[in-house]
Amino acid sequence: EADRMRVSVIGTGYLGATTAACLAEMGFEVLGLDVDKAKIDTLRAGSVPFYEPGLDELLERNLQAGRLGFTTSFAEAAAFADLHLICVGTPQQEGSGAADLRYVNSAVDQLAPHLTRPSVVVGRSTVPVGTAATLAARLAALAPVGEEAELGWSPEFLREGFGVEDTLHPNRIVLGTDSPRVEKAVRSLWQQQIDEGVPFLLTDLQTAELVKVAANAFLATKISFINAMAEVSEVAGADVIQLAEALSYDDRIGGKFLGPGLGFGGGCLPKDIRAFMARADELGVEPALSFLREVDAINQRRRARTIDIARQLIGGNFAGSTVAVLGAAFKPNSDDIRDSPALDVAATIASLGARVTVYDPQALERARQEHPELNYADSMLAAAAGADVVLLLTEWQEFREANPEALGEVVADKRIVDGRNALDPTFWRSAGWTYRALGRQ
Ligand code: UDX
Repeated sequence: EADRMRVSVIGTGYLGATTAACLAEMGFEVLGLDVDKAKIDTLRAGSVPFYEPGLDELLERNLQAGRLGFTTSFAEAAAFADLHLICVGTPQQEGSGAADLRYVNSAVDQLAPHLTRPSVVVGRSTVPVGTAATLAARLAALAPVGEEAELGWSPEFLREGFGVEDTLHPNRIVLGTDSPRVEKAVRSLWQQQIDEGVPFLLTDLQTAELVKVAANAFLATKISFINAMAEVSEVAGADVIQLAEALSYDDRIGGKFLGPGLGFGGGCLPKDIRAFMARADELGVEPALSFLREVDAINQRRRARTIDIARQLIGGNFAGSTVAVLGAAFKPNSDDIRDSPALDVAATIASLGARVTVYDPQALERARQEHPELNYADSMLAAAAGADVVLLLTEWQEFREANPEALGEVVADKRIVDGRNALDPTFWRSAGWTYRALGRQ
């Protein structure tokens, strides 16, 4: 017990807080660090500043067990551990779309001067290829131990809503380093998982950085591919749901991330493909990723198409109409509204003169702060009251299970746009609804 490995986790946002709690759960002694004092106070008090199923219990249990602590002090983190994980955000820059590296740079700049013992720093954040090599040099230059402060890169692939599961049971561990000491530290961190058969891939720094953005680019492409098929299906008289099912039985294609609808949003896929394109441009290989511009454009067109369908349904004009929007989070089981397709659609419809009322099981607070121009209701029925059209834009289970009879009693007109292909058209039509979806007749 006394010689349990100690780890510091720098950045306690979505990725960092989840990583810190999971590593403590795995038996390590963990210190989470953030420059945001309010965030640290919240975590210390045992509450998670965002919605992530299962994380609260993990946080509380490990705080109580004394395996998990939080600080705002880099000196304390450096004294506490010889292994430091960088989990800070890399947001999108205005204009160029490139990744903003200020938090990653500042994590290294603030930690390095305290590294007086041989130390390993491992980046987990999503960064443009080439960043890690620069950071490694910067770390060695600023640390009192010099070259004995070593940096590796090990991207994470966790999905919001499944963060705990994905961290405890990753489908692969990728580490970019040529240092045996970095390799040893990271292997001991994931020894349980490696013993359970999780593949461990040792690469150079650049490949490790690329794995993450390549994976997200592929996933975004897969979604936009099926959404492009939805566009074609709409005009050709085909059904994209049947098309996707038929494609999915080819195991070279597979059925995952082939769900047509309003498209992708969130804090990762949209920003990562844009940052990847910006980086390709800098590297002089812009044409290699120009297809991602199409991926982005297809994704944006789904939002416009959803708005068009709703407008058609209510007779061609939003002015003076009442619109109910079900969903604000960028996906179910999350309260994250970053680049949320649902809120984007809701805000555009409101700007066209409709009275828009939004309901979401978890994201209302955040939505209210970002979009004060929208109305909010605290239940599905309250949001739908008097609506000329209902739009289902985030496929929460609660909406999938909605009762068309009950909803039909409160709306002004039984018209629904299923932006996520989450409902059974036959069921809703037989309850008297005019049902429209993306990619179907
Ligand atoms: C994603 C990656 O999955 C994860 O590996 C990476 O670490 C971070 O980015 P996340 O942003 O949490 O995770 O969401 P994800 O579940 O991947 O969904 C992304 C978006 O795609 C959501 O808006 C979702 O609604 C949309 N989506 C997903 C579709 O439109 N269709 C699909 O078939 C699947």
